[in-house]
Amino acid sequence: MNSGPDLPALHVERVRGTAPIDEVQQLTLRAFAGQDSLNPPSGALSESADTIASDFAESGGLVIRDDAGELLATCRVRRLGLAWVIRRCAVDPSYRRHGLGRRLAEEAHAWATEQGAVRTHVGVRDARTGSRAFWASVGYTPLARHGGFWTELVRPLPQHLAEPENTHALGVRLAAELRPGDLVVLSGPLGAGKTALTQGIGAALGVRGPVTSPTFVLARVHPGPVPLVHVDAYRLRDAGGRLELDDLDLDDSLPDSVTVVEWGEGLVEGLAESRLDVHLERPAEDGRTAVITPVGSRWSVFAPVSE
Ligand SMILES: Nc1ncnc2c1ncn2[C@@H]1O[C@H](COP(=O)(O)OP(=O)(O)OP(=O)(O)O)[C@@H](O)[C@H]1O
Ligand SMILES: [Mg+2]
Repeated sequence: MNSGPDLPALHVERVRGTAPIDEVQQLTLRAFAGQDSLNPPSGALSESADTIASDFAESGGLVIRDDAGELLATCRVRRLGLAWVIRRCAVDPSYRRHGLGRRLAEEAHAWATEQGAVRTHVGVRDARTGSRAFWASVGYTPLARHGGFWTELVRPLPQHLAEPENTHALGVRLAAELRPGDLVVLSGPLGAGKTALTQGIGAALGVRGPVTSPTFVLARVHPGPVPLVHVDAYRLRDAGGRLELDDLDLDDSLPDSVTVVEWGEGLVEGLAESRLDVHLERPAEDGRTAVITPVGSRWSVFAPVSE
C-alpha cells in the first residue's frame, strides 16, 4: 500500500514559543524544493530563520518526530480569532503517502477547536492538484480565488454545545465577527437551538428588544449599534414562500444590518453573495452540535495580495 519505509511511532507536539528553527527550515526547504517550478515561487523557499521563529512564537505550529527524534513533518498555524490558518505544511519527502499530512491536519483541527476556533483555512496553488485533492480529502472546500493562481479553502470545525449556555455563547462569539451586510442562515431540526444562537448574537450586538421565536411575526428588526434583523422562515417553507419572502424587504435592510434567518436554507441564499451557513443538530446524546460554513469571499481571511 505505502511505498518507502514503514511509518515509525510518531510523536506529535504542539509548539507555541521556542521552536527547532533549523530543523523546521531544513525540512520545509526539502519538502517545498519539488515545487520550485511554481510561478511565482513559494515564499517557503526564501523565508528567513527569523520569520520561522516569529511564526512559532506568535501563533505556533506542529512538529512530528519519530522515535529517534527525527523531524518528519511540520506546519504552522495563524490564529485569526474564530478562524485559524494552517500553513507551510511540510512532510519529509521519504515519508510521503504515509498519512503524515493527514496527521498534521487532524492535530491542527483538534488544537484549533480546543482553542475556540470554528473553522480553518488553507491556501493552495492551483497548479498543485495533488495538494488540492489532499485538502479536499480532509474536509476542505473552496472559499475564494486569489491572484489568479491560488485558491483559499475552508473547513468547518464542528462545535459541541453541551448546554444551552454554550449555544448562546457561540452566538456571542460569532457576533464578534459580524458586520453590517452579513447574512447568517440557520438550519437544523425543530428545537436545534437556532433561536438560542440568535439570542447570543443579539446580546453581543447590544440590540434592543428580546430576541424570541417570532411565531406570528416573520421578521423582527432589533435596533442597535448594528441592527439585527431576525427572520423565522419556518412558515414560509410551505409552497409559495417566495412571494412572502419578497414582502419582507430584506434586500433593503440587509446592507446596514446583520440578518439572521432561521429555516432560511434554500430560500434566502440569493440575498447576498456571501453568507455564513450555521447548521445545528440534536444528536442522540445530550446537547447540540453546530457546523459553521462560510460561503463567499467576504469570509476570506487572506489579504487580497498574499504570498
Ligand atoms: N446546547 C444545548 N443543549 C441542550 N439544549 C439546548 C442547547 N441549545 C439550545 N437548547 C434548548 O433547546 C430548546 C430549543 O431551542 P431553540 O428555540 O433555540 O431552537 P430552534 O432551533 O430555534 O427551534 P425552532 O425550530 O422551533 O425555531 C430550548 O429549550 C433551548 O434552551
Ligand atoms: Mg427558533
